[in-house]
Amino acid sequence: MFPEGFLWGAASAAYQVEGAVDEDGRGVSVWDTFTARPGVVRDGDTGRVACDHYHRYREDVALLRDLGVGAYRFSVAWPRVVPAGEVNPAGLDFYDRLVDELVGAGIAPAVTLFHWDLPQHLEDAGGWLDRDTPHRFAEYAAVVAERLGDRVTLWMPLNEPVVVTMFGYALGSHAPGRTLGFEALPTVHHQLLGHGLAVQALRAAGCSGIGIANNHAAVSPASDDPADVDAADSYRTLVNWLFSDPILRGEYPVPELAAAMPGPVAADLKVISEPLDFYGVNYYQPTVVGAPTGKEVQVEGALLPAGLPFEPREIDAPKTDFGWPIVPSGLRDTVLMFTERYGDDLPPVYITESGCSFHDPDPVDGRVPDQARVDYHESHLAALAEAIAAGADVRGYFAWSATDNFEWAAGYAERFGLVHIDYRTQVRTPKDSYHWYRDYIRANS
Ligand code: FCB
Repeated sequence: MFPEGFLWGAASAAYQVEGAVDEDGRGVSVWDTFTARPGVVRDGDTGRVACDHYHRYREDVALLRDLGVGAYRFSVAWPRVVPAGEVNPAGLDFYDRLVDELVGAGIAPAVTLFHWDLPQHLEDAGGWLDRDTPHRFAEYAAVVAERLGDRVTLWMPLNEPVVVTMFGYALGSHAPGRTLGFEALPTVHHQLLGHGLAVQALRAAGCSGIGIANNHAAVSPASDDPADVDAADSYRTLVNWLFSDPILRGEYPVPELAAAMPGPVAADLKVISEPLDFYGVNYYQPTVVGAPTGKEVQVEGALLPAGLPFEPREIDAPKTDFGWPIVPSGLRDTVLMFTERYGDDLPPVYITESGCSFHDPDPVDGRVPDQARVDYHESHLAALAEAIAAGADVRGYFAWSATDNFEWAAGYAERFGLVHIDYRTQVRTPKDSYHWYRDYIRANS
């Protein structure tokens, strides 16, 4: 079903799990600033303590070892490593210890360099709207590569630039909370340029296994009506091709979008399209889109501006407790949409995130029954196997997430983990899905 050497993994991100925001010289990130604003995160939650992974990483690695994963995807916090322009050795030391612990447990470290926690001082200077940020990002990438490059096997400079642009800069429901609408488009170009410059920096440091973790979704029209089909095309271009064409083809999908980008775009695209060793797809749900009807639409709690050429529609499918539709075939379709569009230009694919939030019960006698999460992963893996059978070159699957964690604007109420976290005691309890995944990995390795 899965090819020889298929990589089984689990994923997390620094701000969502580490806590220890004031320790060992860590600087302030946009998420520290954002979560301090009243009313922006559910229940006023913040990442100050999170899963206390900064102190409990040994216990977390032991859980990963017993799970039997071949790789652990985590992110390095930029504000820990380069808090305010100067390298902070104590911040690097933490990741050095974590990487050693993983390697000692026989787990390949897979590193994301930017999972949304931009240093606040860079945001104050314009953040991803400013052309200086991609250059600072490449310097930081070089610093991490120099220290960890001998042990890290997979690199993802960026995680989901679409989410940073859409929720962080256009709609304002994520840090840094800007509401710029289409004026946020330069953040696409600068993140992509940062990606390309970081790829160059990693290569210059002798690293290999370089890719990206990009959020993608199969998009279908609400009906065969040409207006719905056009709306779906625009939406697909904006959420998918805008972020993958520059990387995989060295061009923007439509001239209007290229024209909206700042700087020497043609020269930048050469950097952005540096060849990759793999392409990481984060998949959660497909989208159904229709022509605008003038109705107010919210996406993840953020109101979409009026006048858009498309309107996301409710999907008729069972939902997770987060309200996200469960459509396993969407994972197959998303992967096949990529193989079809890019053909030989598509490097091997990894599913760098897939998972679901259910509001699990508290552990009883050391058990958390979460059959719905088992079903989620099992059905999505079956759909992935269909894509592989249809010819897609997929090399790995990372469950989101290893443990429950801080789910951004939704705080701790949403639980995506294979391991339950009791946030009062920090006790970790493997859920039924953890035991199921362990058996699944064994049976498929
Ligand atoms: C993705 C993010 C990840 C997590 C999951 C649920 O968009 O990359 O950090 O929040 O969603």
